[in-house]
Amino acid sequence: MKDLLEENLQCFIKALLPQPDKVLQDMRIYAEKHHISIVEPEVGNLLNLLVGLTKAENILEIGTAIGHSTIYMARAMSKGRITTIELMPERADLAAQYFKQAHVDAKIHQIIGDAREIFPHLEETYDLIFLDAAKGQYENFLVYSYDLLKPNGLIVADNILLNGWVVDLNYPKHRQKTFVYRMRDFLESFKVRKDYQCSIIPLGDGVALFRKKERNDEETGIVSACR
Ligand SMILES: C[S@@+](CC[C@H](N)C(=O)[O-])C[C@H]1O[C@@H](n2cnc3c(N)ncnc32)[C@H](O)[C@@H]1O
Repeated sequence: MKDLLEENLQCFIKALLPQPDKVLQDMRIYAEKHHISIVEPEVGNLLNLLVGLTKAENILEIGTAIGHSTIYMARAMSKGRITTIELMPERADLAAQYFKQAHVDAKIHQIIGDAREIFPHLEETYDLIFLDAAKGQYENFLVYSYDLLKPNGLIVADNILLNGWVVDLNYPKHRQKTFVYRMRDFLESFKVRKDYQCSIIPLGDGVALFRKKERNDEETGIVSACR
């Protein structure tokens, strides 16, 4: 996915980030060579910051790919673990190798399979859920996530602005129309959601944050749909 901001501004922001280490650099080179979409460095940096800020100890990630975002999150955890789901076994295998190289393998539990099937059967609760796969399923994933999130739990979703297609609708292929419209509907729901408070950060390809609303939110004026 391309960046949303003007190139010079984007380069400026990227240049302000800490230098990634060799493992992260190697992963980015591999991902570019093999056309695998991974988080932009500034989104990786944001994930690292959010995990540290929330002191998340149990994290769920949907869409491991080769494990780039997983490493950004794992490095902010002093204890706990990340459960990460990936559809393609060869990507999950490569991710496992990178986790060892980055010395974070002890913190990571990998599941290979389709998150759409696995999600409804998950039973643990999580401090943070990172959605980065099956973008057309984000609404369903939010619904499943509600009961899996701990109080004050946070959901982070990547690529929600889809190269900017959600506004200019100038997407390249006709077959992506449903996909783009589905994402637009999902974004429109942010105005009226009763289950989550939402915010959009136009970083990378667009990141959305969701805070689970709780019963006592009603006292602060936020209407809650919680059971
Ligand atoms: C954008 S990449 C994830 C990138 C990764 N989070 C990172 O930044 O390093 C999306 C990944 O999700 C996987 N994927 C797609 N649909 C999936 C599904 N239904 N269940 C699990 N994984 C899926 C793809 O195979 C792909 O590797």
